[in-house]
Amino acid sequence: MARKKIALIGSGQIGGTLAHLAALKELGDIVLFDIVDGVPQGKALDISQAAPAEGYDAKIKGTSEYKDIEGADVVIVTAGVPRKPGMSRDDLLEINLKVMEQVGAGIAKYAPDSFVICITNPLDAMVWALQKFSGLPHNKVVGMAGVLDSSRFCHFIAEELGVSVKDVNAFVLGGHGDTMVPLARYSTVAGIPLTDIVKMGWLSKEKLDEIIQRTRDGGAEIVGLLKTGSAFYAPAASAIAMAESYLKDKKRVLPAAAYLDGSYGVKGCYVGVPIIIGAGGSEKVIEIALNGSEQKAFDNSVAAVEGLIEACKKIAPKLA
Ligand code: APR
Repeated sequence: MARKKIALIGSGQIGGTLAHLAALKELGDIVLFDIVDGVPQGKALDISQAAPAEGYDAKIKGTSEYKDIEGADVVIVTAGVPRKPGMSRDDLLEINLKVMEQVGAGIAKYAPDSFVICITNPLDAMVWALQKFSGLPHNKVVGMAGVLDSSRFCHFIAEELGVSVKDVNAFVLGGHGDTMVPLARYSTVAGIPLTDIVKMGWLSKEKLDEIIQRTRDGGAEIVGLLKTGSAFYAPAASAIAMAESYLKDKKRVLPAAAYLDGSYGVKGCYVGVPIIIGAGGSEKVIEIALNGSEQKAFDNSVAAVEGLIEACKKIAPKLA
């Protein structure tokens, strides 16, 4: 069986890390694409030269031509600009929307049967626009945010309780922004909900609230430290988990920005919810029951995403 093909549109910090991780996991051959000539080629050569030391087999090619992504099974999109200190993800909207138009056209022409994972921010609006620009079916275009936000939540909980990250399962819904909704009730340590862990006295309510806020601000904390860009190791690892579930038909249940056509009472919008990712792409949206305050927080988050989508439609009327 021929190797799978993974195309990475954008070969910056996340793109390069994605290529390295995909190679280490032997997910397939890799094409790094970027408009800046030399960068994808240089990274491809560097990662190829790491192969003998690591022992992976993969063909890795750097390119500035869309035709090289032809026939890709998975396309992961990080093209665009990242945040600088003081910027919100929403500040990137106008410039990255133009990038999505070019990327969507490239995917439509050369990889119309691929599974597309968008990472570019502001995530929920960009994945919505990318689906429209590419014309691919909704189940084949998703956004990576929930795995990252949940992973950040898990890390903080595991660190606070002094337990293995393997035993922590955290859950974040909603848009990838300040309004995201980390759900304590559905987040567990060895199956015990965090709300029960608070009742048991293992974690204080104040500490949990602090962790929830730190999770919401997780991206900004890293932007503030790096000063010249945004997080890339954890975003790349998160997208690779989604790509792997698709390529191996693992049917993992992962939070991701998925198209909602009525579930959760939302229509025509991409927002973070749990989905099953398998060979069919986003195979099923899992609709969990939300209590009053959770629903309110989710609705608030959806409203923020809808506001960004409206802003996209004003900038690019053909999206309306
Ligand atoms: N087509 C292809 N690549 C592009 C285009 C375009 N039209 N415009 C910009 N790029 C490339 C840049 O040349 C750069 O190499 O996208 C790459 C982005 O890489 P970085 O600037 O290093 O940004 P990164 O940290 O990888 O984040 C990318 O993901 O998390 C989000 O907010 C983040 O939107 C940002 C994206």
